[in-house]
Parts: sequence; C-alpha cells; structure tokens
Amino acid sequence: DSKPVIFSGMQPSSDSLQLGNYIGALSQWTKMQEDYDAIFCVVNLHAITVPQDPAELVERTRRTAAQYIAAGIDPDKSTLFIQSHVPAHAELAWVLNTITGFGEASRMTQFKDKSQKNGADAASVGLFTYPVLMAADILLYQAESVPVGEDQRQHVELTRDLATRFNSRFGETFVLPEAQIPKTVAKIYDLQNPLAKMSKSAETEAGLIKVLDPAKVTTKKIMRAVTDDDNEIRFDRAAKPGVSNLLTIFSVLAERSVESIEEEFAGLGYGHLKKAVAEVVEGALAPVRERTDELMADPAELDRLLARGADRASEIATNTLNLVYDRVGL
Ligand code: ADP
Ligand code: NA
Repeated sequence: DSKPVIFSGMQPSSDSLQLGNYIGALSQWTKMQEDYDAIFCVVNLHAITVPQDPAELVERTRRTAAQYIAAGIDPDKSTLFIQSHVPAHAELAWVLNTITGFGEASRMTQFKDKSQKNGADAASVGLFTYPVLMAADILLYQAESVPVGEDQRQHVELTRDLATRFNSRFGETFVLPEAQIPKTVAKIYDLQNPLAKMSKSAETEAGLIKVLDPAKVTTKKIMRAVTDDDNEIRFDRAAKPGVSNLLTIFSVLAERSVESIEEEFAGLGYGHLKKAVAEVVEGALAPVRERTDELMADPAELDRLLARGADRASEIATNTLNLVYDRVGL
C-alpha cells in the first residue's frame, strides 16, 4: 500500500518501560499505526553498547516487545520485531560506518554526555558508532518519518546526512527521513526531581513510574512526589514543576484539560491530587501490565508473533541491503 513508512524503536535496557515511554512513545505509536506503514523495533543491538547481563538482556528484550503489544501495537497492523533477528541492521551499519566522518561522529552530543559520565576509556567503540547503527535502522526501511524524542534529533540529522552522501556518491538509494517530534506530546518528569525527564536509566527509582510495577509501589511513589510549600494546585512549570508534572500526567491519561483538573481540586491539598493521579495512572497501566503478563506466560505465542515480524522486516531490509551492496561493489 502507499501509506508513508515510519520507523521507531526503544532499547530493552530495563526490566520495565517507564510512564514517559508509555505516554511519549507507545501511546503515540499506537495512534500512528492506523495512518502509517509502521515498523517498530526492540533495539537490542543498541543495548549492548553498554555492559549488559546476557540472561537479563534476553528477558528484557522479550518483555519490552510484550509491552509494545500490551500498550496497543497490533502485530497485524504494524511490523514488530527484535533488531538482532534481522542481520541487515548490522550489515548496513558497517557500510555506513565507512562513509561517516570520525569528526562527524565525534560531534554527537549524546555520545559526549554518555562517555563523559564514566570516562572515555569506559565507553565502547560501539557506543561511539551507535548513531550509525540507528541510521541503518531507519534507512533499511526507507522510512520517511521517525517519531522520536527531542534528544534524538541530532541522530536523525546524521541519518539524513549519511543518506544524502551515499545517494550522491553511489546513486539514488535512500529516502531522506525526517524526525517527527510532535510539540503537543507531553514530557513527563521525574517525581523526585521534576526538572529532569523521567527516564528508565535514572540513577534512583524513587521518582520513576514503571509500567510493570504493582499499583502499591507506584501509588507510594506518587504520594511521595516532590511538590512545594504553598499547597496551591496550579500549573506553572517554572515555579511549581512538581505539581505541574502531576497535573500533566493526570491530564494526559484522563484526557482532560489541565484547567478542569485545577478547578476540580481548587482549595484541596496536594494529598487529594496525588491520590487522584495514582488512580488515573493505575487505570492506564493496569491493563498494560495484565496483558504483558499474559504474553510473557505464553512464550510460544510471543515467539510466533516476533518471528512473523522479523520475516516481514527482513524482506524489506534485505532488498535495501542488496541494493546497497550492489551500488558499493560488494
Ligand atoms: P529512557 O530515557 O526511559 O531510556 P528513551 O530515551 O529510550 O527513554 O526514550 C524512548 C522514547 O520514549 C523517546 O523517544 C520518547 O519519545 C519517549 N520518552 C522517554 N522518556 C520520556 C519522558 N520523560 N516524557 C515523554 N516521553 C518520553
Ligand atoms: Na535511554
């Protein structure tokens, strides 16, 4: 069919996705799969650019795929697969490595941030060329659009540069993709540090809402969320980041305007708001948790769905890779 192609993926880098992934990625993807030829990947080759426990990685990879499906990615409508099941990703990444400038790769701010954290010697060359593998992920499917967070914009720009360079050196081959960063999609912040985005790689978990955590754990975290002293329920990102974050979570998940929530809770304390937020979060995450458990309890069915996704992805990816090898003289 002639729907535009989108590609997106997440790393299986944690035992559970977090609320920001659910709101900022999975829920958006679920809506997009109607209007796009959507390709969703669990990017486990990216995950090994930092040390991983092998048995844990296997489990997290499956669990991440299960959460995609549980959150609404329909394997009949979209192509859903595990990156390492399609060897063309690593193969195209190698070819793209050979047309990427060392200085160009060195300018990627995410690598600079990540490698500075632990020192340059602790960072692998794989982490350094991570954006090139990401370019391969996108270009293999001739994706026109890449729904990502703001922090991935530079990597999509690199992808465009590499595609343009390849096309001009070897002949028209790749579609130039664009980052799709919707301004209207809410950003969720850490409950304990509402100036930092919620992230599954956060150093402490006290401010992290995990999709697969039991309701009790999540409710406790929300009840302990950092707020402020004036006990006024009002949205103000700059002056009241903690309260504003709670209002955002409530508003997005209950599909209500922030104003209507401010009105409902006017004069009531933060405890009331937090309790209501906890209920709304549980209402959204409980079905995802239950469906994930069901999928994890039937490994044969999950394997079948993922193998089918890999077959579909392979067909497209292999076509692109064959063309690339041909153009390059391999
Ligand atoms: P994490 O920081 O949890 O590892 P990633 O950086 O892998 O998450 O992000 C995967 C996708 O999830 C992003 O492209 C973005 O769309 C979404 N996302 C992640 N964190 C948030 C957040 N705090 N608020 C909104 N969306 C988020
Ligand atoms: Na991350």
